Amino acid sequence: MRSLVTGVAGFIGSHLAERLLQENHHVVGVDCFTDYYAKSLKKANVKRLLKEPDFSFVEENLLTARLPELLKDCDYIFHQAAQAGVRSSWGAEFEIYTSLNVLATQRLLEACKGLNIRKFIYASSSSVYGDAQELPLREESILKPVSPYGVTKLAAEQLCYSYWKNYQIPTSSLRYFTVYGPRQRPDMAFHRFMRALLDGEPIEIYGDGKQTRDFTFVSDIVNGNLLAMQSALVGGVFNLGGGSRVVLNDVLETVQQVAGKGAKIVYRDVQRGDVMHTLADTSKAMSELAYRPQVDLSTGLKEQWEWLRETFS
Ligand code: UGA
Repeated sequence: MRSLVTGVAGFIGSHLAERLLQENHHVVGVDCFTDYYAKSLKKANVKRLLKEPDFSFVEENLLTARLPELLKDCDYIFHQAAQAGVRSSWGAEFEIYTSLNVLATQRLLEACKGLNIRKFIYASSSSVYGDAQELPLREESILKPVSPYGVTKLAAEQLCYSYWKNYQIPTSSLRYFTVYGPRQRPDMAFHRFMRALLDGEPIEIYGDGKQTRDFTFVSDIVNGNLLAMQSALVGGVFNLGGGSRVVLNDVLETVQQVAGKGAKIVYRDVQRGDVMHTLADTSKAMSELAYRPQVDLSTGLKEQWEWLRETFS
């Protein structure tokens, strides 16, 4: 099996590529090291991969890459590359979000036309739902993203559907719910909270801390990708949640316990684009893919804390 992982130097892409190698895939990983966060962290994410004989790394941007070469003999595509982050997608930044999330996806789908791709898996996001009318969020719930980022993720998801409908490219979109674990991006909540604890700085909470999130450990997301790869179902979307919905104020307790340290908590303004609540209805992924999230929040947070302490101490 030969798989292409886009965004392979990112948080989820690097874990996914490692798992595919364990499953005896030959993995081609592509990444262009955007400056969304430090290149040194992304380089560290791929360090183990670069030693693997069945891994090849291509440093290119999907907007300009020679895609026919990248896709040669490819069986599976795991499209993780994106400009991530909900809160920074406003203003002039939107051009980058449009290019890297919408145009790059369209270019990749175009290049798949006429090839024998067995599955094209797209990393979508819970941000496509926007502010929930009712919980849990089901795949059929109303989609009204409240951030420009969410708009681009939804647009790319719809492109995947269009290319399936018209060109029979076997796409499947997975809506990830706030993923955490070792290598989590530095702009995300748990990473920022843990860095603050490590450095003896205050923890900043956006809003009143009463927002809730269905946090999902990264290995559960990787499992979801492999299950979607094996499934005969195409052209659809699946929620991948962790089954650990918590109030942000409450999870602070657990984070501080795991770190064995306390911090001053300061409350900042609500950030534009943030949704108040998420909770995935995963019954579709459970019944059709046999998806079962395995890692509970305190176990996952311990793993993230170990990684973070080793990396940043
Ligand atoms: C995350 C990812 O950043 C997105 O790329 C992804 O698409 C999305 O999950 C998803 O579910 O698909 P988010 O839910 O905002 O977005 O994840 P975090 O950055 O971990 O934030 C969780 C909550 O903590 C948010 O309410 C945020 O406002 C809050 N937060 C974050 C703080 O209170 N303080 C911080 O320092 C950081």
